[in-house]
Amino acid sequence: MSKVLSVQLRDPCDSDLAILFEQQKDSDYNNMAAFTKPDPSDWNAFHEQWTRILSDSNILKKVILFDGAVIGSICKFQMFGKTQVCYGIDKNFWGKGFTTSALEQFLHLIDERPLYAQAASDNHGSIRVLEKCGFKLIGTEIGFANARQSEIEESIFELV
Ligand SMILES: CC(C)(COP(=O)(O)OP(=O)(O)OC[C@H]1O[C@@H](n2cnc3c(N)ncnc32)[C@H](O)[C@@H]1OP(=O)(O)O)[C@@H](O)C(=O)NCCC(=O)NCCS
Repeated sequence: MSKVLSVQLRDPCDSDLAILFEQQKDSDYNNMAAFTKPDPSDWNAFHEQWTRILSDSNILKKVILFDGAVIGSICKFQMFGKTQVCYGIDKNFWGKGFTTSALEQFLHLIDERPLYAQAASDNHGSIRVLEKCGFKLIGTEIGFANARQSEIEESIFELV
């Protein structure tokens, strides 16, 4: 019998941070996400940011688990007065439908609509995840992407 691959979500804790740090530090991950922290290899900055996230009850955050291991994270937060979602998973687990499944589960935890998400316009994986979960493209803007060290186009998505 073939095994059904599925992910689970759970609340993150301090001991997850070292794992998430390693995942987001990867150069392909950064290049794809584009709008990243100035220095993804700066543990202190990462730890400081996540310590704030963990203590902020206005941010909904989950780690994504596969086979009991932490493979990524997904968050809902306020930015510029809009409720946004954002996610990322370990490169070793890309292309298996895991983020689509995680976002589908995450959306069931959130009553409020509309929700927004942004992705570099060449981040086809993220854009496809959003489309598969019902988000629609509503516009684009140009922004400075740390990981590319240049201004690039970002696509803005809405889920109503
Ligand atoms: C973007 C990201 C979250 C996608 O996660 P994933 O688990 O690989 O996505 P899924 O497996 O659920 O794939 C969903 C769809 O995207 C497609 N896809 C995934 N990666 C792709 C890529 N690099 N190029 C083109 N399509 C891609 C899949 O084929 C699938 O579409 P399909 O069902 O029509 O075939 C993952 O690559 C990642 O963590 N990247 C780095 C961080 C990042 O970019 N986060 C998002 C910031 S906006």
